[in-house]
Amino acid sequence: MSTVRVFPVGSTRKKVTTLAFRQKKERGQAISMLTAYDYPTALALDQAGIDAILVGDSLGMVVLGYENTLPVTMDEMLHHSRAVSRGAKSALLVGDMPFMSYQVSVEAAVRNAGRFLQNGGMDAVKLEGGRERVDAIRAIVGAGIPVMGHLGLTPQSIHQLGGFRAQGKTAAAAQHLLEDALLLEEAGCFSLVLESVPAQLATYISKRLSIPTIGIGAGAGCDGQVLVTHDLLGLFERFTPKFVKKYANLHDEMQKAFAEYIADVQTSQFPSAEHTVAMDEAAWWEFLRTAEPEAVPAQYE
Ligand code: KIV
Repeated sequence: MSTVRVFPVGSTRKKVTTLAFRQKKERGQAISMLTAYDYPTALALDQAGIDAILVGDSLGMVVLGYENTLPVTMDEMLHHSRAVSRGAKSALLVGDMPFMSYQVSVEAAVRNAGRFLQNGGMDAVKLEGGRERVDAIRAIVGAGIPVMGHLGLTPQSIHQLGGFRAQGKTAAAAQHLLEDALLLEEAGCFSLVLESVPAQLATYISKRLSIPTIGIGAGAGCDGQVLVTHDLLGLFERFTPKFVKKYANLHDEMQKAFAEYIADVQTSQFPSAEHTVAMDEAAWWEFLRTAEPEAVPAQYE
């Protein structure tokens, strides 16, 4: 039987650091990470005891309604990062660098990574890509900013990958992915997301690396797991990836609650007396004596 622990408001939990990530891997303790884009979700995740919160650029799809993650801007990411940082005090906070915030030049990559820490309240950044990102990663880490890598299905490259498809399925692709993983570790990444890659490959890479791997659709052999919170809660109704386990169906719950509210308003069931502000009777007649004296009965004049 699993034990569910919660950390109520006001209680303190030790801040999770990148060092704690490494220690968890060494001790064989699985790392838990989920996405958040707002204050209440971050608060609930932190109180539930999550190790890390990713302010993912999945924001674009599950919150802002874009077709994919490509239109997401630095300003949008920082706006949501700040909200998350106000809600979560213990989890390690990772800001996802959006498309074109780190690809154009190493200088721009360092500057934008810095903004996540200076203006977004994040502890670390994540960026997508392998060998082609090594220079940017080295420079960001050199500036004192922890970097989480991201290999496999990298959604910012969907047009190059031909859609949201699993990666590393041939021997050559698997070898390429392993080499990228080793290069990212060598460049200074403190952790690495492996998305939509075969489980045996993810397990093999996890064993070859000393930094922890965080899997999404990469099987149980990774050192930790991440999901998009809106998928897990059933809040994103457009599609559900095969690797998602739904723990709730909040879209249906919300729709039900909204329909009940609409019916209550239409039938005057809401608001009832308990949801209504009362006024002292003497104060009411005093008000009416000024506002509409002719409407005041003689006994109240
Ligand atoms: O943007 C995101 O939420 C992500 C996760 C899927 C890892 O990158």
